[in-house]
This record gives sequence, structure tokens and C-alpha cells, in this order.
Amino acid sequence: MTGPSTPNIPAAPAIRLAVAADARPIAQMSRSLVEAGLRGWSWNPVRVLGAIQHHDYCVAVAGVNHELAGFAIGEFGDNQLHVSLLAVARAHQRRSIGRALMAWLEHSALTAGIHEIHLELRAGNHGARLFYQSLGFAYVRAVPGYYRGEESAIKMQRKIGSRNNDNEAAQSLEVIEKLFNRIK
Ligand SMILES: CC(C)(COP(=O)(O)OP(=O)(O)OC[C@H]1O[C@@H](n2cnc3c(N)ncnc32)[C@H](O)[C@@H]1OP(=O)(O)O)[C@@H](O)C(=O)NCCC(=O)NCCS
Repeated sequence: MTGPSTPNIPAAPAIRLAVAADARPIAQMSRSLVEAGLRGWSWNPVRVLGAIQHHDYCVAVAGVNHELAGFAIGEFGDNQLHVSLLAVARAHQRRSIGRALMAWLEHSALTAGIHEIHLELRAGNHGARLFYQSLGFAYVRAVPGYYRGEESAIKMQRKIGSRNNDNEAAQSLEVIEKLFNRIK
């Protein structure tokens, strides 16, 4: 028998806005997947909770079988969306969850009339750089010592909605819907 509950076929992710109870698991994922090897804990539970509760931030979580599979934190500026943090649990990587979370943020940005997405990543994070490149992000510059003086950052950016905002917003919604329905 096959179906979403079959162990070898993961259920499609469901993306929703984070709630207060998500703050600790998100922070723990940041510590182990994004901040690993750096001094301190920048995105600790208190900071993540602050983002969940602040209207300038959008915190999305992807759940698979009621388990936190990934999350994205975006901060809205006047003209740009800054992706502050993004991670997908190792067991769920390469199943398009990162892509779906980014599409979700992009749709939110387009809805808010924002045309640019910016982000930084650790210079040594080659997998994430390839991931962002696959989504159309371009290298902007390197910032030495950006991470606690210990590691450089790579800044990347992508313009969105430049030609036909309504059409592009609809397309990113379509991507999200397709990804929700996809079972790999
Ligand atoms: C980077 C990350 C968010 C990607 O999430 P993901 O759900 O695994 O990515 P997706 O499955 O949506 O990948 C989409 C495409 O990106 C590219 N990609 C993703 N991860 C990649 C990797 N490690 N190496 C090369 N290409 C990669 C591929 O083209 C992939 O498409 P494909 O699987 O059809 O080949 C995830 O690997 C992660 O959480 N890493 C640890 C934390 C981190 O680095 N966060 C980002 C910096 S803050």
C-alpha cells in the first residue's frame, strides 16, 4: 500500500505562520544548522520569539507530519525583504522545502509591494550558496568578519516582480501550491 503515511514517501510540507511555541525549536535549528561552530547563540529563543511577535518580521514554518521540518525568517524593510534565517532539518533536505519556504516569503514580499530580496550566508556554506543561486539570487559582495568576527558573509540579492507584479505573485503562489501537492 502506498500513501502519505508510508515511511518511504514523506508527506508534502504544510507552511504556516509561526506561533510562540515554535520559537524554541526554531532557535535550536538555527543553533545546530546555521550557527554551528560560531561563538554564542545569536538567534536564541528570546530573539526568535521577538521576531514571531514583531510586525516587521514574517516567520514561516514548514511542517511534515506535525514535525517542524524547516523555517524561514524574513524582515520587511520599506523597499526590500531581508531573509534573516532559513533552515531545513537534515532529514528533510533536498525535498523542495527550502524552495517552498522561499516562495512563501517571496509571495508575501510581492503582496507587500516589495521588489527586492536580500540575504547573507556564511562564506563557507557552499550548499546554501548553490541553493540560492538555483533560485536566481546573485552574488553582491563578501563582508569580512560579518559573523562574530570569525567568518565572512556573502551577500546575495534577487529582484522580484519587476515586469508584472500581479503575474509574478500569482506564479509564486502557483509554485507554493504545486510544492504542497508534490510527494517525492
Ligand atoms: C540551504 C537549505 C535551506 C536548502 O533547503 P532544501 O529544502 O534542502 O533545498 P531544496 O530541496 O528546496 O533545493 C532546491 C534546489 O537548491 C539546490 N540545492 C539545495 N541544496 C543544495 C546543496 N546542498 N548542494 C547543491 N545544491 C543544492 C538544488 O538545485 C535544489 O534542487 P534539486 O534538489 O532539484 O537539485 C538547507 O540545505 C539547509 O537548511 N541548510 C542548513 C542551513 C543553511 O545553510 N541555511 C541557509 C543559510 S542561512
